[in-house]
Amino acid sequence: MREYPDQEQRQTAYTHWYRESRSQLWPFEDYKFIDDGGIYTGMRAVHNPGKEGYRYDVIHPVTGNPCRQPMMGYRFPEGTMRRLVDEGRILFGDNESKLVELKVYAKDYRSKLSSLFELDGRIGTNEIKAIFPESKRPFDFPKPVELIEELLSFTTSGNDIVLDSFAGSGTTGQAVMTLNQADGQHRRFVLTEMKPSIARGVTSERIRRVVEGYGTGKGEVPGLGGGFRYATLGKPLFAANGHINPDVRFAELARFVWFVETGTPLAGKAPASPLLGVHAGRAVYLLYNGILKDKSAGGGNVLTSPLLDELPPHEGPRVIYGTRCLIKPERLRHLGITFKQLPYDLKVTR
Ligand SMILES: C[S@@+](CC[C@H](N)C(=O)[O-])C[C@H]1O[C@@H](n2cnc3c(N)ncnc32)[C@H](O)[C@@H]1O
Repeated sequence: MREYPDQEQRQTAYTHWYRESRSQLWPFEDYKFIDDGGIYTGMRAVHNPGKEGYRYDVIHPVTGNPCRQPMMGYRFPEGTMRRLVDEGRILFGDNESKLVELKVYAKDYRSKLSSLFELDGRIGTNEIKAIFPESKRPFDFPKPVELIEELLSFTTSGNDIVLDSFAGSGTTGQAVMTLNQADGQHRRFVLTEMKPSIARGVTSERIRRVVEGYGTGKGEVPGLGGGFRYATLGKPLFAANGHINPDVRFAELARFVWFVETGTPLAGKAPASPLLGVHAGRAVYLLYNGILKDKSAGGGNVLTSPLLDELPPHEGPRVIYGTRCLIKPERLRHLGITFKQLPYDLKVTR
């Protein structure tokens, strides 16, 4: 790199060397190109294998015409392709008649998935000790990050969500983040851990340190960036018959209703009012478990005209959850109210 700062001269010198050495370059015999990032090749990894993929136009940067599409379409959604193009990771031919390819550097090369991995059994323990220097034995028998990364690199890509329901020390989360950094993908992860002390003190703390960086001096490891949400399980909201579990309190159902309605967690303590909050101009109300201290049948869970007058006001659209509604649909429409019936309209479809 230092010897040939000029890109054209560097490629010429590399081509010369590549032609002479090709017979000995396996498995890098297709890596014909070089640039500031190193030696690279073009791969058909943007093409969808087997079944029909995504269809959209990728514009050739010189001719301005759409490039020929792969037979089964593209493997990634359009947004991902646009990002890859912006990052200079897509290789174009001289004109639009050539299928585009993904630029893959030799430094990111991964061999075929092997049925046998040979790794020092102490690696996982050393990794976790480096992240938790203050602790003698943070976790027994953690897996090495490299092992999980290797497995994930063959089985996941794009925005895939990796679930580890026995998360332990959180190796899987770290592997997802390091792999994303290496290959520019956007995998996400869900880790579950049943022991609260491990979940808080090890699993989530490890992920936090890996995100923010850890270690000092020579052992300093920069953070990988990103973030995560720490959640705890409440009691089951629904009984086996689909009805709301009678033990569920207003605050617990309120959090769930808010999440289903807005896709975001309810910040802070659940309000002691049927008005849970306003999201994107829309007020969300929940009538449940006598929140209005109503002694009537249904305990104030039925939307009636007098009850509507009691609700905290909101200028703009309103969504109201309750067990029944005795107001006519035309009036609701006129008032900008959408009524949703408990428990049936609480479908978890997100
Ligand atoms: C063998 S460890 C996982 C080690 C992990 N692969 C690592 O590298 O650290 C298994 C973990 O799963 C947790 N666990 C066991 N049963 C569980 C369950 N039903 N739900 C959630 N976590 C569970 C245990 O508390 C333990 O921390």
